[in-house]
Amino acid sequence: MNEPTNLTENIKPAARNEIKLLYDFFGLFKTARIVSENNATYVGKLVNFFKLFQVLKEEQDGITFKIISDHFFLNDKLVHFDDKGLSGAGGVVSEWKILGIGGVRFAGEITLDELGKFFRFMAEIKPVGENLDTVHEDLKTHGLANIEILSSRDMEVPTPEVSEETRQRFRKMARVTFFRAMSVVEETLVDTVRDKDINIAKTKRVVHGLIDHVTRDASSLLELTAIKDFDDYTYAHSTNVCVYALTVGVRLSLDRPRLSQLGMTALFHDLGKIKLPADLIRKPEAFDEDDWVQMQLHPMLGAKTILRNLKFDAHAARAARGAMEHHINRDFTGYPQLRLEKRPPNLFSKIITIVDAFDALTSGRVYIKKRIEPDEVFKKMRFQMQVKFDPFLLKLFNDIIGIYPSGSLVLLSSNEIAMILTNNETDKARPLVKIIGNRDGLFARPSWADLASEEHRHRRVIRIIDPERYNIDIKDFILKD
Ligand SMILES: [Fe+2]
Ligand SMILES: [Fe+2]
Repeated sequence: MNEPTNLTENIKPAARNEIKLLYDFFGLFKTARIVSENNATYVGKLVNFFKLFQVLKEEQDGITFKIISDHFFLNDKLVHFDDKGLSGAGGVVSEWKILGIGGVRFAGEITLDELGKFFRFMAEIKPVGENLDTVHEDLKTHGLANIEILSSRDMEVPTPEVSEETRQRFRKMARVTFFRAMSVVEETLVDTVRDKDINIAKTKRVVHGLIDHVTRDASSLLELTAIKDFDDYTYAHSTNVCVYALTVGVRLSLDRPRLSQLGMTALFHDLGKIKLPADLIRKPEAFDEDDWVQMQLHPMLGAKTILRNLKFDAHAARAARGAMEHHINRDFTGYPQLRLEKRPPNLFSKIITIVDAFDALTSGRVYIKKRIEPDEVFKKMRFQMQVKFDPFLLKLFNDIIGIYPSGSLVLLSSNEIAMILTNNETDKARPLVKIIGNRDGLFARPSWADLASEEHRHRRVIRIIDPERYNIDIKDFILKD
């Protein structure tokens, strides 16, 4: 039986000077395009980069930078960036994807002059599409034969085979973890109404349980986020936002302490709502102006509550900032309005802004009263609302959720109705599904089908369908079996 393995498991983390080297590499990659080759600051940075590069290259017999499934590697070590590093690297990654570049290998002797030429060369490189041969030839003509550009096609990691039995076990474990998280949110909200302190140890345990699960098998948890009609939406919403945020954090290779802080920030992002009248939160009709005025107080109320009821440490500080910033938006059009210093939201807040909006729009509960299908939501977020969100993080989250999100219902070319279990990383159009019925009705015994396998090649997904239109309660298929 093949257990799913995580890409970053058992991989040594890069040391501080190695992270610095990759950070400076991306910095030079970007600067080379905007300044002349004689610019003093640029030359200074290049010389410093070269010094560290020489030391590490000697020690490790060559240097290879790679990007695999949005994780950064220096030789075979995983690079964990901080917020600044991530925003710098993020832009380069999106560009490299368009260019078809998956990494760069430096082998043999390389002089400072050659390194300078290399950055100038990279500044002018055009999309390479199918093949990198011409780029390699160009590098040779520039006298840079010791540098090789690696294709992103060679960097793809195949999704590990997971047996039906193992996946079933993970789905059961995911339910336990998910509902435990939901009950901790409920307990915390009830405690804060009574002005009792938040049980930090319990909350951390729950967040760590979610991190373990997301790292090993995100799809079983994502499947649960598809249930949008829990009675108490606030608890489910906070748990969903936490699961989504953690999937993004894991993709960004955040280390465990930061994942833990991100998880807690996400779990408590709407804590301030408990201080608002319950009728407002549950109001079935659209909000009027007065309702909005009240609603817009929840970020500030949340931050205050966290600082008052949570023992002050890094978790509390991060959570308070996340609660405060999650509706500010990238273009500052949200709330609360910052009057003095317009400080951009930090990485955690940027992640939460995106996943929070996604959950709200796909649920249709609080701000808009009509549920929108996930694919439509991403279109809306990318085109109509793009000024609000960080484009790199939005793209990353869209990639994680995929074209057919876990837990959504689809129509197959065989006229059958199926629920998506998990995406197939190498062929996103052919997910693993549970076939639950056809146009005539539901089957007594649903069956699993891996649409990427030969056996099910004749079936393909036609489109996502609305469960309500078919009178299907997807909870039945997510929670029972
Ligand atoms: Fe909120
Ligand atoms: Fe929210």
